[in-house]
Amino acid sequence: MTATAEASTPAGEVPSFEVTLRIRRMNPEGTSEHGAGEEYWEEFRIQAHATDRVLDALHKVKWDVDGSLAFRRSCAHGVCGSDAMRINARNRLACKTLLKDLNPAKPILIEPIKGLPVEKDLIVDMEPFFASYREIMPFLMTSGPAPERERLQTPAERERYDDTTKCIMCAACTSACPVFWTDGQFFGPQAIVGAHRFIFDSRDEGQWDRLEILNDKAGVWKCRTAFNCTEACPRGIEVTKAISEVKKALNTGEI
Ligand code: SF4
Ligand code: FES
Repeated sequence: MTATAEASTPAGEVPSFEVTLRIRRMNPEGTSEHGAGEEYWEEFRIQAHATDRVLDALHKVKWDVDGSLAFRRSCAHGVCGSDAMRINARNRLACKTLLKDLNPAKPILIEPIKGLPVEKDLIVDMEPFFASYREIMPFLMTSGPAPERERLQTPAERERYDDTTKCIMCAACTSACPVFWTDGQFFGPQAIVGAHRFIFDSRDEGQWDRLEILNDKAGVWKCRTAFNCTEACPRGIEVTKAISEVKKALNTGEI
């Protein structure tokens, strides 16, 4: 289907093709065919272009076919982190995933991210995720009077935590973590990434408070180094490496 459409596309035109979206749905109030809270799959066949992302396809369904389809999105450019979902069994941002890269000859499976309660269709309750983030006190902690100008640090000091500043809090890492799915207490990878960003910031004075929190039974020692988090991160953050650095700081007492 795709190959034929692309091969016959006149020069200068964007190739188009038909694609099937198979979407995991749930309506807490029920529908005419499904009970309240019942989960079910629904298929939508739409016309798409080679430049379309999964988010564009979901918009097409919502705007042209079924306005009741629920999903979160805001920036549509990989910045706000609101449209993480499971696409063909992998956590991805819908706005950063091109349909043509997913073998559109086969139905594309779209589900809510795992480990967080589903509110409706692809929307999950993010509160447990944000609660873990709040636990690690994600703000600069300092003592003494504020300096007259900015708090300085060298490029090398800034480099120490550069990777973890890129987090957009999409929850793709945490909701890809098998320990998070089953444990019920684990803070999850993102909270550790959020803590790493401050623990290794030379201007911060709350490192040991945060490390003590992460030394808890819900903290870093729950990590089984599955690497799912690193694989899932749409920002390319080395999440497992950040977790290892926090573990090392706890083991050695050195930051
Ligand atoms: S570390 Fe990556 S996957 Fe996890 S919340 Fe941040 S941006 Fe998303
Ligand atoms: S809609 Fe903002 S990251 Fe995708």
